[in-house]
Amino acid sequence: MISHMPRVNAILKSSKYQKWLKIIEQAEQKRKFCRHTMEHFLDTARIMYIISLEEKLGINKELIYAVALIHDIGRAMEYERNIPHNHAGSQFAEEVLAECGFSDEEVNAIAGAILSHRNGLNNENSLGRLLYKADKLSRLCFNCKAEKECYWQEDKKNFEIVY
Ligand SMILES: [Fe+2]
Repeated sequence: MISHMPRVNAILKSSKYQKWLKIIEQAEQKRKFCRHTMEHFLDTARIMYIISLEEKLGINKELIYAVALIHDIGRAMEYERNIPHNHAGSQFAEEVLAECGFSDEEVNAIAGAILSHRNGLNNENSLGRLLYKADKLSRLCFNCKAEKECYWQEDKKNFEIVY
């Protein structure tokens, strides 16, 4: 089968990615709030891609999927070593993405977008802005049993389908 996104699939198949994914899955087994699963990563990627198409931003599809796949993978180190997940995630990007075929410029763009995705600040590049927006929009607050207890500000919660 022809791979349409070989570099993205190289991230997915990397041993470090799989290892960190398992750590997150274990740590979040009993979490009642949003989990950080493959479903969340792909929901985020697809919403980013839709927005990019709608706004005719022309951002490379593999960049979008790479940033979405990695943006919360740093949770593994947050759970294990108390390192903020945006920092661990951007470091992950710097360590793994070159091996997967991304250029230095692409690695910097992805690492920067991940670093700033927690607060939405310094999102002067469109990749970071899209990540911040799609990350939030991917969550199904309107269908969540724990919504009332969730710490998210009311205006950030999704009470209707947008994408
Ligand atoms: Fe996220």
